[in-house]
Amino acid sequence: MVQSNAALKSGFLKAGVKAPVKETLLTPRFYTTDFDKVAQMDLSENEEELRAVVAELKADYNRHHFIRNDEFKQSWDCIDGQTRIAFIDFLERSCTSEFSGFLLFKELTRKLKNRSSLLSEAFEYLARDEARHAGFINKAMADFNLSLDLGYLTKNRTYTFFPPEWIIYTVYLSEKIGYWRYIIMFRHLEQRPGYQYYPLFRYFENWCQDENRHGDFFKALLRSQPQLWDNWKARLWARFFLLSVFATHTLTVLERANFYQSLGIDARNYNIQVIEKTNETSARAFPVILDTKHPKFMPLLERCSQINFRLKLLEIRYSDKSKFIKFFLKLPLMLAVTFYMLRLFIIKPIDAEAMRIEVH
Ligand SMILES: [Fe+2]
Ligand SMILES: [Fe+2]
Repeated sequence: MVQSNAALKSGFLKAGVKAPVKETLLTPRFYTTDFDKVAQMDLSENEEELRAVVAELKADYNRHHFIRNDEFKQSWDCIDGQTRIAFIDFLERSCTSEFSGFLLFKELTRKLKNRSSLLSEAFEYLARDEARHAGFINKAMADFNLSLDLGYLTKNRTYTFFPPEWIIYTVYLSEKIGYWRYIIMFRHLEQRPGYQYYPLFRYFENWCQDENRHGDFFKALLRSQPQLWDNWKARLWARFFLLSVFATHTLTVLERANFYQSLGIDARNYNIQVIEKTNETSARAFPVILDTKHPKFMPLLERCSQINFRLKLLEIRYSDKSKFIKFFLKLPLMLAVTFYMLRLFIIKPIDAEAMRIEVH
């Protein structure tokens, strides 16, 4: 697709088609992996659980869920000003991350066919669900005279390579954090229907069960690979990925406080709730979880978010300066973030394996 710089600058590829959000560390990413290594995975350690989860996915409980009802058939010009801008940003980011999941799962389905039939089947169901989710959000964007050009996105996005182990940790976490994000928002709006300004939110209850099942599949896959939980390296990786996901969540949620405010949600409380719930859930899959209730934990994460704001301001204020000068202006702030992240990383984690032994 040929597109003019002017069109890109204005944020539109063609009338009504939105240019994807500018790629930064915090925007939803597109992943690729070592498919041969996935195909060679020995699943025997946890095959029974994996088969049970795949049967759940096959049941396709939400096959009739993503159908737009009459509530959508009206003009949405009533959502205007800052609320409209913030809501469209939310739709765009959600659609991109659902679509990113679809592309990865579709590719895994294709590459594992005839090589690892159980995994290929599972990824086919996961891709089916994510395609539905992305498609449903894209239709919502059409209500605002916009749509994401998913074909353009497929061809022009840069793909980040993650080894299969990293994919398992990060996708597990993103499915579970997605579950908690949707369900907490749904429950809040159920109690305060006055804030439900668009019908999409009403679909979140069943929707998030898809994400929950996807997470359960990745949990079963993770537990089938002892090297992913049964050694000191795995414990370090678990801490690293939990912290990265929670830091990213804090930065993106606090940056978009006005969107949450439009729904009557306090962004800070929402962030804390989502992080604590996701952390607790992760104890079922990961060998360790983080001590999110440690008195320093949330304040340090929020301090990182404040620095992120300052970095953004700096970028705007010195937009005419060279990359070299900007780097040195940003350096003290980047060092401060690194220092806070290190402090967060060394907070004593909670042994999830010990909790598992107590429970059973
Ligand atoms: Fe999804
Ligand atoms: Fe998902």
